[in-house]
Amino acid sequence: MQSLQTDNSDTAQSIGRADVRQMGINPNHWYAVARSTEVTDKPWGVALWDEPIVVFRDRTQTLHALADRCPHRFVKLSRGQVVNDTLECAYHGWRIDAAGNTVEIPYLEENQKLPNCQVRQFPVKEQDGFVWVFPGDSALAATKEPLPIPEWNHLNYIATVSVIDCEAHFSYLIENLMDMYHGHLHQNYQAWADPKLERLEENGDRVDAYYQAQSYYRIDKIWSISQLFFPSLRRLHPELLTVSYPYPNWSSTLGEDFKIYCLFSPTGLTHTRAYLIHFTSLNAFHRLHKLPDRFRRFVKNSLFGSAQKLLDGLVEQDVIMLEDEQQAYLKQPEPARELNRALVSVQRLIRTQSRG
Ligand code: FES
Ligand SMILES: [Fe+2]
Repeated sequence: MQSLQTDNSDTAQSIGRADVRQMGINPNHWYAVARSTEVTDKPWGVALWDEPIVVFRDRTQTLHALADRCPHRFVKLSRGQVVNDTLECAYHGWRIDAAGNTVEIPYLEENQKLPNCQVRQFPVKEQDGFVWVFPGDSALAATKEPLPIPEWNHLNYIATVSVIDCEAHFSYLIENLMDMYHGHLHQNYQAWADPKLERLEENGDRVDAYYQAQSYYRIDKIWSISQLFFPSLRRLHPELLTVSYPYPNWSSTLGEDFKIYCLFSPTGLTHTRAYLIHFTSLNAFHRLHKLPDRFRRFVKNSLFGSAQKLLDGLVEQDVIMLEDEQQAYLKQPEPARELNRALVSVQRLIRTQSRG
């Protein structure tokens, strides 16, 4: 018993010391690798923690995900095309079916047999406008769920999506998103001011940080939407700003009017892809809610992307910082002089998750 306790505390200490910039992902979660509309009749190649994966649809629009590696000479299957529900490799035209079997080779001779080689299959599903892949142990896929994004289909929310593509470890991105003190960077794009971390919770797979802040936006009149384009129209008022790290993703609410998600797709140790999704709420417009759903759907679709400039502007400014941090780390790794205790919790979660 004594030695067990010693072992545990040794392990805890060594995890606590482990360099978070070297931590891997926990593959036993669902990762958003594409928007639903991005996967059409062409193969869509992605990488999750250096694992190349190809996603494609068959003729019934069903999604499939396979290792992006031809069993013949190991080139990427995503360079080929989808033919009769199979993936046809660009190089010699071998065809791989959705279960990962080689089913056709154009130059197979009569006395030759199809090679018995299996391409790895990954669990894949479509939910709330995104394609999610489970890169870990397939047997565990049913025990987890992709992050729910109920606003995606809700008629009261207008969505804008921006892609984050940065040469930095995913920890830099999640720390940026959980640290509301970096509003200083965003100038005209800033949605909040004067944040103060009031409460911090760590629960299993997630961290929640509650800040009191001043919001620049209040969407209660139809013209309020123009605050997204004209900073001079914004008026500061106090709001609760909540940021959460439901591993491996991120979500945030600012008062009643905004909800933001970031869906992480870490491609490797120093490269992260993610989708940032911003929702503007139309909850305050009660008269709008009485209109037929068809019209409300039209409004929702017509206003899709209305915060694009704001969101892309924020992303551009953040990515410069994240890539600077990564470069500085590569040159000389040293721990940051961090004052925000939310980031201690974030790093703790990254360390425990990376152990699976
Ligand atoms: S490498 Fe794919 S068919 Fe030859
Ligand atoms: Fe930011």
